[in-house]
Amino acid sequence: MTAVTVESVSWRIGAVPIVDDVTLQLAAGEFMALIGPNGAGKTSLFNLISGLRRPSSGRILLDGGDVTGLAPYRRARLGLGRTFQTSAVFGSLTVAENVALAVQARRGGATRAWRRRSDRQVTARAGEILSEVRLSARASATAGSLAHGEKRKLEIALLLAGEPSVLLLDEPMAGVSAEEVPALVTVIRGLAGESDRSVLMVEHHMDVVLDVADRIAVLHHGALLACDTPDAVMADPFVQEAYLGESL
Ligand SMILES: Nc1ncnc2c1ncn2[C@@H]1O[C@H](COP(=O)(O)OP(=O)(O)O)[C@@H](O)[C@H]1O
Ligand SMILES: [Mg+2]
Repeated sequence: MTAVTVESVSWRIGAVPIVDDVTLQLAAGEFMALIGPNGAGKTSLFNLISGLRRPSSGRILLDGGDVTGLAPYRRARLGLGRTFQTSAVFGSLTVAENVALAVQARRGGATRAWRRRSDRQVTARAGEILSEVRLSARASATAGSLAHGEKRKLEIALLLAGEPSVLLLDEPMAGVSAEEVPALVTVIRGLAGESDRSVLMVEHHMDVVLDVADRIAVLHHGALLACDTPDAVMADPFVQEAYLGESL
């Protein structure tokens, strides 16, 4: 089963191809890393998949259905989740309250008669999510008091509250201190596979990429240079020349 299909997708600004005829398939339950030098088009490809931008040509499919013409919120309803901006976190509320609000938002307003039962379910689901991102111990801390790595976990928790089947993570380690990286990697590694949830992650830390990815896609000047297992990608002479040689 294919979660996301990117089919001959190009995105041009004027005559300049920013994303150049990219074709790739993310399988259900798969963890794929997207790497490439700065300016390779990684974030642009995410924008095309999430619907923030429309491709100049090509198609995007979710679970086999064509979503190329759909707005981002409609793709989100179909299970596509992208990390929230930090601004989506309410700094003065607790971690648990932030996640409960996101769970509540996903479920929509309950009628009064259902409110009590629904509140219990929301709290229970928020608790499960906090446990999955390993933030239970910080549940009653205010979100504003979290360290960078913990904030990233909270952002992932808010994303999970939308019950996505596909997660797009754009540089989830950015701004996180070296001591916090291992804990965050543990959480990220666990995200794919769970009831066929798949992940597409842009990340510069090659050690993290090699640790978590089932396959690695390499973008270079907007084009897909390789998409294969970590071993095969690391051994690919074109990849070494174009990317790994200059960064390692
Ligand atoms: N809205 C835009 N207008 C003009 N150029 C853009 C726009 N978005 C991205 N680009 C250019 O496209 C290229 C790829 O950018 P981006 O997708 O952010 O790369 P990456 O995420 O791999 O670093 C860069 O050269 C960038 O300057
Ligand atoms: Mg980027």
